[in-house]
Amino acid sequence: MQPTDLIIFGASGDLSARKLFPALYHLSGCELLPESFRIAAVARDDVQTDAFLSRLKERMQSAINHTHWSEERWTKFASYFTYIKADFSDAKNLNALSKWLDDTRVSLFYLATPPSLFAPICDNLSSADCLTGDCRIVLEKPIGEDLASSEKVNETVGRYFPEGSIYRIDHYLGKETVQNLLVLRFANRFINAQWDQSCIDHVQITVAETVGIEGRWSYYDKVGQLRDMVQNHLMQLLCLVAMEPPNSMSAESIRDEKVKIVKALRPIDVDTVADHVVRGQYGQGWSQGLSVPSYTEEEGCTNPESDTETFVAIKAHIDNWRWAGVPFYLRTGKRLPEKMTEIVITYKKLPHNIFSGGDNIPNSLVIRLQPNEGIEMKMVAKKQTLKDKLGLVTHDLNLDFLGSSEMNRIPDAYERLFLDAINGDQSLFVGRSEIEESWRWCDTLIRACQLQNIQAKQYHAGSWGPAKAELLIEKDGRSWHE
Ligand code: BG6
Repeated sequence: MQPTDLIIFGASGDLSARKLFPALYHLSGCELLPESFRIAAVARDDVQTDAFLSRLKERMQSAINHTHWSEERWTKFASYFTYIKADFSDAKNLNALSKWLDDTRVSLFYLATPPSLFAPICDNLSSADCLTGDCRIVLEKPIGEDLASSEKVNETVGRYFPEGSIYRIDHYLGKETVQNLLVLRFANRFINAQWDQSCIDHVQITVAETVGIEGRWSYYDKVGQLRDMVQNHLMQLLCLVAMEPPNSMSAESIRDEKVKIVKALRPIDVDTVADHVVRGQYGQGWSQGLSVPSYTEEEGCTNPESDTETFVAIKAHIDNWRWAGVPFYLRTGKRLPEKMTEIVITYKKLPHNIFSGGDNIPNSLVIRLQPNEGIEMKMVAKKQTLKDKLGLVTHDLNLDFLGSSEMNRIPDAYERLFLDAINGDQSLFVGRSEIEESWRWCDTLIRACQLQNIQAKQYHAGSWGPAKAELLIEKDGRSWHE
């Protein structure tokens, strides 16, 4: 691996402490970082490297499972760091960084900052002469809040970095099981042979969270669950389920196939939105045994009348040969009963059931992304009994990833993504056109909700969302997977 410098803007923020530094700590512990590796932690706080590290150590100890913590590993990890104080809005402030950089090494700029700072940081990096040598940039979501603003961000960043050096993160792509989805589909001939409208009845994608908005009112109230989760994470999962086999695992081939799916998504417009979208907002209720406030009573709430959605369910269609007539039901929400991300593929019933003693039970494939990462195939088998000669029952063929992991833990998404960005592999990062096409589709849907006044229905915290979300699928004679 080439000598590499990682420059993290927003190094004292929450994401850095909870996700980025723990991921780097694990990579360092597994000896997967380049032999010559440095980290510049850039933030506004007026502190020295030692003070920054002692605070970081405390925060990381609560983020990392104690069985994986060791002082020896920490000492090695801490030795990578230099803290650089900088106000990102002024190029003069980046002079110290400019001196620290070395253009014989790879410079990986990681912007863990609000997106409004992406453009000024890029402008100032350029003015401060920081962009010489092999420079790459990693951007955290959200990239814009609609098509127009995402184009603007992409254009500004594109002025300084070619597309091949821009790494747009959707951390769902770094999750082990999401990568496994690609392997499941394209390394198992029998799965791929049955992967279309002739065999599949419908697809469900659920991303359920127990958390509320975690003190992020001012951010969240402007975006809501649609922009925060659907435009990016659910869209990526849908693309990976639906895309054609790419001709290689190169970033370009994968992105090309994903974009085709986003473009084939049928727009949900004013005429169809009422039958295809349900919005919800959590009211008071219980989460994990604790009483929790409603969305509009959350800390920091400035608008008790807010109609921002914390839950959304969508029935989507992909207008292409493979998926004609197969609905994709998507749902995601905060303060649901459990943290769970899964994709369920339900196959069609048998054309003719010869087992008079049993129902015509469809097969289904459940891909569990979190927790209990694994894949479960629901197969139909004979009941083991003499009484009922050919009674049918479903059994699970279960693939448990943690049980078969070499690492006794499932690596966090950011570990994979850091490693790939360091190695210059963009296949798990999102391309510009995917993001923009996804915004185009979401913008139409959001606009249609506004024009048709589709309001967010209240649901109790700790429930599975508003009753209308059940109806969305039940009116088609189907139900959400439990
Ligand atoms: C983030 C969203 O992108 O993903 C959060 O901004 C959400 O609102 C989070 O809670 C969920 O990620 P994960 O990995 O915990 O499912």
